[in-house]
Amino acid sequence: MTSSTPNSTNSLRATFLDYFGEQGHRIVPSASLVPQNDPTLLFTNAGMVPFKNVFTGQETRPYSRATTAQKVVRAGGKHNDLDNVGYTARHLTFFEMMGNFSFGDYFKAEAIEFAWTLLTRDFGLPKEKLLATVYAEDEEAAGLWRKIAGLPDDKIIRIATSDNFWRMGDTGPCGPCSEIFYDHGPEVFGGPPGSPDEDGDRFVEIWNLVFMQYFEDPPGTRTPLPRPSIDTGMGLERFAAVMQGKRDVYDTDTLRALIEASANTLNQDADGPLRASHRVVADHLRSSAFLIADGVLPAKDGRGYVLRRIMRRAMRHLQRLGAHEPVFYKLLPALIRQMGGAYPELVQHQALIAETMRGEEERFTALLERGMSLLNDETSRLGASEALPGDVAFKLYDTFGFPLDLTQDALREQGRTVDVSGFDAAMTEQRQRARAAWVGSGDTATETVWFDARDKFGPSEFLGYVSERSDAEVRMIARGNEILDHADAGQDVAVLLNQTPFYGESGGQVGDHGTLIAPGLRVEITDTQKRNGDMLVHYGRVVEGTLKPGMAVTAEVDHHRRQAVRGHHSATHLLHEALRRQLGTHVTQKGSLNAPDRLRFDVSQPRPITQDELAAVEAAVNARIRENTAVETRIMTPEKAVAEGAMALFGEKYGDEVRVVSMGLGDEERTAYSVELCGGTHVGRTGEIGPFRIVSENGVSAGVRRIEAVCGLAADRLTQEADARLARMADLLKSTVAEAPDRLAALVEERRNLERQVSELQRRLATGAAETGNETINGVTLAARDLGDVSPRELKGMAEAIGKQIGSGIVALVSSADGKGSVVIALTPDLTERFDAVALVREASAVMGGKGGGGRRDMAQAGGPDANAEAVFDMLRKTLSA
Ligand code: ALA
Repeated sequence: MTSSTPNSTNSLRATFLDYFGEQGHRIVPSASLVPQNDPTLLFTNAGMVPFKNVFTGQETRPYSRATTAQKVVRAGGKHNDLDNVGYTARHLTFFEMMGNFSFGDYFKAEAIEFAWTLLTRDFGLPKEKLLATVYAEDEEAAGLWRKIAGLPDDKIIRIATSDNFWRMGDTGPCGPCSEIFYDHGPEVFGGPPGSPDEDGDRFVEIWNLVFMQYFEDPPGTRTPLPRPSIDTGMGLERFAAVMQGKRDVYDTDTLRALIEASANTLNQDADGPLRASHRVVADHLRSSAFLIADGVLPAKDGRGYVLRRIMRRAMRHLQRLGAHEPVFYKLLPALIRQMGGAYPELVQHQALIAETMRGEEERFTALLERGMSLLNDETSRLGASEALPGDVAFKLYDTFGFPLDLTQDALREQGRTVDVSGFDAAMTEQRQRARAAWVGSGDTATETVWFDARDKFGPSEFLGYVSERSDAEVRMIARGNEILDHADAGQDVAVLLNQTPFYGESGGQVGDHGTLIAPGLRVEITDTQKRNGDMLVHYGRVVEGTLKPGMAVTAEVDHHRRQAVRGHHSATHLLHEALRRQLGTHVTQKGSLNAPDRLRFDVSQPRPITQDELAAVEAAVNARIRENTAVETRIMTPEKAVAEGAMALFGEKYGDEVRVVSMGLGDEERTAYSVELCGGTHVGRTGEIGPFRIVSENGVSAGVRRIEAVCGLAADRLTQEADARLARMADLLKSTVAEAPDRLAALVEERRNLERQVSELQRRLATGAAETGNETINGVTLAARDLGDVSPRELKGMAEAIGKQIGSGIVALVSSADGKGSVVIALTPDLTERFDAVALVREASAVMGGKGGGGRRDMAQAGGPDANAEAVFDMLRKTLSA
């Protein structure tokens, strides 16, 4: 079916949104599956999640009515349907929730009226097939159903249980609800809601209208919302089943197409004995693809671990269906055909999704076969319905990467369970062993409080690859090794959150700065560090209010700083590759720093890098930046990464999977210009790096050169500063910048000429004054001159000239240029028998506080700090009179 087919899932979605659009609702695109505004939620699990803060009044929007088709994942957390998927007719981990919302605008009457009109008029459902439930105490709602829909009393069912009181989670907006059911008719088994047979398939819930009235936090404490509001949710797949005359969501057009893709690819009957496996694959294909498109990648913990559980569960079922090589990703085109129109992110991220699926399946396939055979060996030893011992399940988890629920799912087919408490005990024991090993390692640099915290809270979830802002729960606060129960304004603190967009310093990239905010609270974060490998600890100061563990805060990274850091980090990758291409593959990274205002990159390189080479490297980096290609991140094994040509750091320890960052256009050899293993944060497209400029190149140790460079704003600043200097220079030269170099060259030439003239004049001056400055002692002429600020270099030439002029005598010249005294003493040839110029300058030097001098017997030079010419001349007079 295509979207134009009446009652296709795509056309039902469009009809719903159009209807509410016509009723004054803003049609808002689906938000990400990773909630940006709630620390307690793993995934967006209802249509109202993105509007949570609008209901509470914390956030305002330019509209008070909205409608959405929201992507939802219910796997893990309060609403977890993972275990049921494949085995029931209506459970899905991923589905679309259609909804209309009123933020303090309309309330019960209009909500019921809208729903009833849409169902019976636009969708044409027969009135007699519909019935409604209301919360037992909600007489108002019951009355409205009678009045608006004309439902008889036996079709308005009062439910006193929590089934008709809707909560997003343990905390958050909530309220009584009213559900609309569709009756498939008496030929299907089942009773109306609230009856003993309600679990049958005859009556199915199609729409839940929640009358949002309260906010619950902490659990059990409810306060009224500022204005009563409306939140409704219609599971699109279930509704499509009703509209398409099916009883099973897996028989609707979209899911059926995916099941058929799986059946065709694996050549296995879609409705044969392995029907449940096809369904698991179809559902998990959707949740996996949408989660990856929203930035989640398989990981050891947090959201990434839930994704991995979903993917591995699908892969086990693919193997049951006969797969021996990766096939999950081959089903992706079928999904894109069905849903790519409504959700363009699938198309946009198709390559990443396929690559991630294939990589995960490759890693898991080998382990799966060995793990399944271990599991079969173990179960063959057990009694008929005996539970699998916890330590075996743990071994499967630890060694073969079998999440507990995958083992449980595999055993379900044999009617067996797992000893979960034994599994937990084995897990705890392993942690204790790791801890003992760590304590013995002598690593005292880590504040030990964080080790205890790791045991208690587990790793922090890093959200910063896809967002810079998220809500989070404060898990612990500390100062040094002291755990605090609160911290007041003015105090320095270290804060652990359950999840955070803040990057912890690693791989050369500096830790993020930013703020933690809650009503009346503000904490300025000035560093983020990793503790025990996978905990992110925020260091900063409380500037307003009191910070306490358990609080919900909004953690927001300083965007401009992070943006600048990202640019420098991506530029470093391009620089690394450009250097290798310019200088050779011996160039490897020896160290790096990626800060907001600069980058530093140390590489192995035996000789200095020339100006020309640097210019070529700079030009190559700028060319890649201008290409403005997308920067891609994929997850794979280190071996695969290296096989793809990724640069890995020798001697670095990598886990069993790595992030591989690629950027720039590729060639025959490689898929991209630069391919590197890297856990850092990068720009989305290379163009965001902005201009790139190398600032300096130096040697740091034998065979290691250091390059410093800047990009983006920092490069702009560098250019501006250089321009300002040039402008000032031109100004001083009284020329334009363009003419400045010629003007400067002319000035230098002019100066050289002037210097020549000055020395000539000085010489003439000194010799010209010959007659007047001479004295005769014991028949010897002494020509003594204090020349003042004359360069010492000039003295000898002048002494020679004066000597010639006087014919016979001693010439003594003292100068005091540059704050130093210099003396030259020269003898005319007739006096060299009687006197020694070298001996005389030594004495002169002593007078000037210096340490001797040297020269020839007829001409010697010396210096000293104290240019006291008169004292020198006195010494000579004394020598001559003796
Ligand atoms: N938030 C309500 C639900 O998810 C509509 O059922």
